[in-house]
Amino acid sequence: MDLKEQHILISGGNGMLATDLKRELEKENCKITSVDIDELDICNEKGVHGKLAALKPDILINCAAYTAVDKCETESIAYEINGTALKYLAEASANNKIKLIHFSTDYIFSGEFKNPIPEDWTPTPINKYGEGKLKGEQNILNTDGLDFLILRVQWLYGKNGKNFIDTMLKLSKEKTELNVVSDQIGRPTSTPYLAQLIIASLRADLKGIYHLGPSDYCSWYDLAAHVLKDTKCKVKPIPSSAYPTPAKRPLYSVLGLDKINIALKGNPLLEKTWKELADEYLRLND
Ligand SMILES: NC(=O)c1ccc[n+]([C@@H]2O[C@H](COP(=O)([O-])OP(=O)(O)OC[C@H]3O[C@@H](n4cnc5c(N)ncnc54)[C@H](OP(=O)(O)O)[C@@H]3O)[C@@H](O)[C@H]2O)c1
Repeated sequence: MDLKEQHILISGGNGMLATDLKRELEKENCKITSVDIDELDICNEKGVHGKLAALKPDILINCAAYTAVDKCETESIAYEINGTALKYLAEASANNKIKLIHFSTDYIFSGEFKNPIPEDWTPTPINKYGEGKLKGEQNILNTDGLDFLILRVQWLYGKNGKNFIDTMLKLSKEKTELNVVSDQIGRPTSTPYLAQLIIASLRADLKGIYHLGPSDYCSWYDLAAHVLKDTKCKVKPIPSSAYPTPAKRPLYSVLGLDKINIALKGNPLLEKTWKELADEYLRLND
């Protein structure tokens, strides 16, 4: 697909991923309209239908979400945003022949596997955030006549959002030793890199569900140790049982990449490792 010809609407446009996605899309010379909750509240069914009918973009990229995972355990609005609202976005997109791009998460899985998880594995969400995100996926899948792409991603970090790497860098200035969980495994993914992968997926006009991320994976401890290797702060591995959180996290939630590796075969983005992405991010911070 030639993106130059396309009008792309981004919802949740002030968020972490959306900010880097806009920056990358600007290089494609497509027409971009970016809105956040003040212009398009995705939970407002009438508002969603009205806005999409008025703008009639070719593609809607929904970056709107409630991403405070622990707060999802108690805040019912999270389910509305991550789950229910996708019915409105999906139906309005189908009505107006708009392709819908949406993001989901590894937290729809429970984390007991020991191999990268394929797209067609049965989801069993581990926490309320995962339940909401799975409902969002189901609302999309259940909408007749919709052209959609669901991209499941995990462990995101970017300059425009609260993220693990920034937290580690900040704490390393205040403490001499940090305890970090070493038994949760995933693919740490920078949002500038993810934005490039999303654009490659759009160009290839992918449809259905795909997992995205760097070519290898690690634990939170590995990521922290790498990021802080040139500081005086020591990083100590601890088990998740020593770091309880309101929302449970999956232990092994590595998203399998076989499907995207076939679809985008030969694209050098697929070769990138989590360490390369983390190093690029650190250089941005220099
Ligand atoms: N961050 C991760 O590690 C991670 C992991 C896996 C999947 N994902 C998924 O990736 C996508 C992008 O995540 P992100 O980290 O970039 O999210 P983010 O930074 O939290 O951005 C979400 C944006 O949506 C806005 N928003 C909230 N409620 C809204 C509503 N009702 N209508 C319109 N906009 C609303 C937020 O505004 P406020 O800030 O004002 O609330 C924010 O600007 C999401 O689908 C997320 O579930 C993220």
